[in-house]
Amino acid sequence: MILTGAMFLALHGVAQQLPYQDASRPVEQRVQDLLNRMTLEEKIAELNLVPYYASNDSALRAGIRGGRIGAFLKANGAALNRSLQEEALKHSRLGIPLMFHEDVIHGYRTLTPIPLAEACSWDTALVRRSAETAAAEAAASGIHLTYAPMVDISNDPRWGRIMETSGEDAFLGAAMSAARVRGFQGADLSDGSHLAACVKHFAGYGALLAGRDYQNTDFSLRDLRERYLPPFQAAVDAGVASVMCSYTSFDGEPLTMNRFMNTDVLRGEMGFRGLLMSDWTTLSYAVSEGAAADGMESSRRGLESGLDMDMSSWNYSRHLKRLVETGQVDREWVDRSAARALELKFRMGLFDNPYAYFDTRREKRVVGSSEVRRAAFDMACASMVLLKNERAVLPLAPDRKVALVGPFAEMQKDLLGSWTMMGKADEVVTVAVGMDRRMKASCLLKAGCKLDFSETDVERMVAAARAADVIVACVGESAGRIGEAVTTGSLSLPAAQLRLLGELKNTGKPVVAVLFNGRPLVLGDVLDRCDALLEAWYPGTMGGEAVAAVLTGEYNPSGKLVQTFPRAEGQVPLAYNFRRTFGYVHHRDMESGPQFPFGFGLSYTTFRYDAPRVNRTEFCRNDTVEVTVRVTNTGKVAGREIVQLYVRDEVATVVPRERELKGFLPVDLKPGESREVKFRLPSRLFMMYDNRMKWVLEPGYFRIQTGGASDSLKEVRIRFF
Ligand code: GLC
Repeated sequence: MILTGAMFLALHGVAQQLPYQDASRPVEQRVQDLLNRMTLEEKIAELNLVPYYASNDSALRAGIRGGRIGAFLKANGAALNRSLQEEALKHSRLGIPLMFHEDVIHGYRTLTPIPLAEACSWDTALVRRSAETAAAEAAASGIHLTYAPMVDISNDPRWGRIMETSGEDAFLGAAMSAARVRGFQGADLSDGSHLAACVKHFAGYGALLAGRDYQNTDFSLRDLRERYLPPFQAAVDAGVASVMCSYTSFDGEPLTMNRFMNTDVLRGEMGFRGLLMSDWTTLSYAVSEGAAADGMESSRRGLESGLDMDMSSWNYSRHLKRLVETGQVDREWVDRSAARALELKFRMGLFDNPYAYFDTRREKRVVGSSEVRRAAFDMACASMVLLKNERAVLPLAPDRKVALVGPFAEMQKDLLGSWTMMGKADEVVTVAVGMDRRMKASCLLKAGCKLDFSETDVERMVAAARAADVIVACVGESAGRIGEAVTTGSLSLPAAQLRLLGELKNTGKPVVAVLFNGRPLVLGDVLDRCDALLEAWYPGTMGGEAVAAVLTGEYNPSGKLVQTFPRAEGQVPLAYNFRRTFGYVHHRDMESGPQFPFGFGLSYTTFRYDAPRVNRTEFCRNDTVEVTVRVTNTGKVAGREIVQLYVRDEVATVVPRERELKGFLPVDLKPGESREVKFRLPSRLFMMYDNRMKWVLEPGYFRIQTGGASDSLKEVRIRFF
């Protein structure tokens, strides 16, 4: 066995710190000192990211002791991860600590709403807090790094993973990306209560054809720079620790091995310095889709492209040593990637406080705490979007007789959505429980059912409806219709649920539909059968509590859509900010335009917008445009309005988009209260990629448009010289 310096000194009773063990030294020095002591195999081990399976535990422990594994995903819990860490610290040659990764996408044990829902709050502070509390639970449970935020952008609700995105707009997506990175990582990555974030999937995953997951994409360099990169840049600017490549390709070459993307763009242009990892076994998928002859080739091209870490394919572990020894791969590339992996471990304090994340007492205290549940509740309330409310049927007075029916009235599991991590269905607060806590017992007639309900169930629900003043029908689609590797051609609710809504409408009682889903649906048939419609998404562990708070007016809904809702699947793709045409051609067999546009959402009160005013109408480059818009609560209850600001470029050297979101601000107003909302727009917000792909500010006229939805705006015209 090779004796390290520390071991030699320890053997002779001389406790002396080696440079890499000296916490007072700069991280770069510690990394370099440790690298100099490592064998090639140990460096390659740092690039080997391995899924943990209990069934494979003994082989994996042997791999740890043998110095072949640098990090795990899917190993959970303070006790288990401590035991795996001890294998590394006590039984591997250099005692390099492991990192533990996990998919903490929208909560760890206490789940918050799916990310698409959270974004509908348009509240970056709330979204940051949601990420922070998720990090607290996960860090207490032995996790160091999360594969989030997912910042992909899509215009296709047929894609099941749209539920993980923050919607169709790059500007909003960038704001949510930065908020989540800051929430997960906190101010100090080594404080033991935060996670390293991993922004994904780099890049353009959401551009897949027909919404078919994993389908290779084909989009322009302009699309890349205008739509797909901004949320990644926001994550990099917020200090994100790592990036994950997408399954898909850019310009035909898999992103796992795409040097232009992984080095020239990500590191050269965007300034990313952290760790770049593959997605699940993509170094093998490159071979199975014919983009590489074998694992040797995909490993060589992957490392050469700048890919540091191989998730779960073991190709780096199997091939890199031989590739280095035969001169096909520069040993320096292995050092470079191993250095990035080690740097993150040092920055997270894993060498200096290796058991910080494995305190089972802290785990018990933090996981499921009232603070975490409160954050999940607040996030769920703010994420819900009121889409219809005729004759002010909502909010429900506590003494109204309410029939609570439908397959989601007592549902627990599906309220968690997808990527549910350690979320427990039996900890979910149902709508029925939430309503029990807010309605008089004599006024609440509960008649829930299962997703595959029967005719008898329908009769029972209609009977309850007949005995009530108002019906709350909790409907939606199974969480199995969204998530990874799920694509569906239909965006409609199941026919049985539409039939149920029809029967309920026929009772003549007002129908409030509450919708549980993870993506825009085609809602025409639902809207015909209800008087009010609340989009509740998959609202997480506290979902039912939040639905009840909104239905009873305890929380006045303030959410706004971040993804356009089409009238039919045939309209897809649809967005608020497509490029203009000289004549907009609609589908002749349906009403034109979306069912609900980007930025839309109702409230229990009403708001009035005055026209926006600007500090002047003519500007030069580097000037700041100051916009003021007066917003008034013209209703009878307090409410939050998400004030939106768009810019419409009148003429450019490429066809301009209809309009683009360039600012937003949540404003809380009491009844009758009026407020002047101010935006400061630096001139960079008016810049664009011209017809030569140069990033410029083209002189000309722009419209500044403000309002409460992308199709309900007032404007003022300005000019840049
Ligand atoms: C999956 C997903 C990725 C996830 C990873 C680890 O296939 O594409 O988003 O983080 O594997 O679970």
